[in-house]
Amino acid sequence: MLSVAPMMDWTDRHCRHFHRQFTRRAMLYTEMVTAAAVIHGPRDRLLGHGAAEHPVALQLGGSDPAELAQAVRLAVPYGYDEINLNVGCPSDRVQSGCFGAVLMERPALVAECVAAMIGESPVPVTVKCRIGVDDQVPEQVLPAFIDQIAQAGVRHVIIHARKAWLQGLSPKENREIPPLDYPLVLAMKAAFPQLTICINGGVTTLAQAKDLLDQGLDGVMVGRAAYHDPGAVLLGADALWGDDFAPDAVQVIDAMRPYIAGHLAEGGRLHQITRHMLGLFAGQPGARGWRRVLSEGATRPGAGLDLLDRALEAVQARAA
Ligand SMILES: Cc1cc2nc3c(=O)[nH]c(=O)nc-3n(C[C@H](O)[C@H](O)[C@H](O)COP(=O)(O)O)c2cc1C
Repeated sequence: MLSVAPMMDWTDRHCRHFHRQFTRRAMLYTEMVTAAAVIHGPRDRLLGHGAAEHPVALQLGGSDPAELAQAVRLAVPYGYDEINLNVGCPSDRVQSGCFGAVLMERPALVAECVAAMIGESPVPVTVKCRIGVDDQVPEQVLPAFIDQIAQAGVRHVIIHARKAWLQGLSPKENREIPPLDYPLVLAMKAAFPQLTICINGGVTTLAQAKDLLDQGLDGVMVGRAAYHDPGAVLLGADALWGDDFAPDAVQVIDAMRPYIAGHLAEGGRLHQITRHMLGLFAGQPGARGWRRVLSEGATRPGAGLDLLDRALEAVQARAA
């Protein structure tokens, strides 16, 4: 249906908790965690999350079937609702480890990876991919890729509807310059009706997501817009499921208070949470005041919940 995309440095546990206050239903994805980091790194810090975040999906990066299987085994006790393999991220760091979008050129290896992951996972293993990379012909490689991973047991694919150009574009440019091809993703749903096919890329409003769902897609994953303007994408999202949970922005803020208080009581900083909330009133009167009060004040030592009140007053003063 609707999900919030994995975004490095952005969709951490605080961000996911914030997004969860808008919607009980949308799947929320973690930042990508590499299989090697799960195996060798600070696992609790990388995989720990709050009970309130569910449904939540762990995104893994990697290209070694045994390593990915081990990472899944280690992640299972953390109770994620889905485990996703990143076949879409074009950053240099990711390419050098031979994973991310470069794996679009290695469908047989991806099939081995997902088969190994499925063997260890009690929850669905999904793949997030591009429509192709570099000079690949998407109309040819994408169906072949999906067919191969489906044979390995994948039932759910999220397609970022543009190519990644592995040379010459920064990761940011790779989210903007290669053109979006929604018709190709729709064609994949027609070609693989038994699979859950979700589209990603360029969706900025809930209405646009609904329109894509109405065209027959099973899900819409929203990234940047959900972060920069969560009101436009996530407020009222549960109506997609026929659920009447529909808080407004102020109710979302109120719902964050106990969580923030708990974080502060544990010695955390306000800014670690409120940095994800800056987009809340995007495009509305008072948005600038909201952002200014929070971004100037939240990093100060001792900043507390009263800052949230002041930021909200700045919005309400403008809106009045
Ligand atoms: C800051 C940032 C970090 C991202 N990190 C990841 C990541 O870790 N894994 C991934 O698969 N995609 C990542 N992406 C890509 C998004 O998941 C998404 O595919 C892309 O932004 C296109 O969707 P959008 O147009 O809705 O933003 C990232 C995007 C941004 C903006």
